[in-house]
Amino acid sequence: MIPSSLFSQIVLNWYHTNGRKHLPWKITNNPYKIWISEIMLQQTQVNSVIPYYNKFIQIFPNINILAHTSIDKILNIWSGLGYYTRAHNVHNTSKIVVKNYNGIFPNHFSDIIKLPGIGRTTAGAILSFGFNLYGCILDGNIKRLLLRYFNISFKKKEPIEKKLWNIIKFITPIYNTSKFNQAIIDIGSLICLKSKPKCKICPLIKTCLSFKNDNWNTYPTIKKKKVKRFFF
Ligand code: ADE
Repeated sequence: MIPSSLFSQIVLNWYHTNGRKHLPWKITNNPYKIWISEIMLQQTQVNSVIPYYNKFIQIFPNINILAHTSIDKILNIWSGLGYYTRAHNVHNTSKIVVKNYNGIFPNHFSDIIKLPGIGRTTAGAILSFGFNLYGCILDGNIKRLLLRYFNISFKKKEPIEKKLWNIIKFITPIYNTSKFNQAIIDIGSLICLKSKPKCKICPLIKTCLSFKNDNWNTYPTIKKKKVKRFFF
């Protein structure tokens, strides 16, 4: 295995020249805006999210305004984006943050993870992008990237998730976490594609074991976990 510092250095170097820095949620580190973008980006492609995110932030510029809005108004703005449980979760979370945290988004993992609709990856994104703190991200694309990179084979029912979380915790750097996280999201979603990965432009090509073994296409898909649903 290559040292975690080498892995993160390669990824960070790539970020400086190639990482996405101009997405609407990359030009802010406001935890409220980061949270909204990350909820919208669950199950939805970047290009579909952009207009919804911009409109949402324009109409609900902060968490207090959101908490005091009716769910019908939120659903109206969310209309067309799909997975409407997310809109209910966003509203409920805003009310919890206003009531329990004085309207200041919490910055501890244990508090963030308890909020409706927020799992480990979204919590990691909020911590790193919104607070410049350490937090890990493991979305479906990053799982595929890690399986390929470390040439991990597993049987259908094996508890592979835990292993992948341990790996991502190990390779995510304590410094520059947010840049590393954006870069690994970008490499996972734009380069290490499910079919026809763009290995030729991948910064990790030199140390990727699947590329070396020419077996990038042999991994079983990891079943998606059901998204946590909260109904109030
Ligand atoms: N998906 C989840 N978080 C993202 C981000 N910050 N940028 C692009 N796609 C994402």
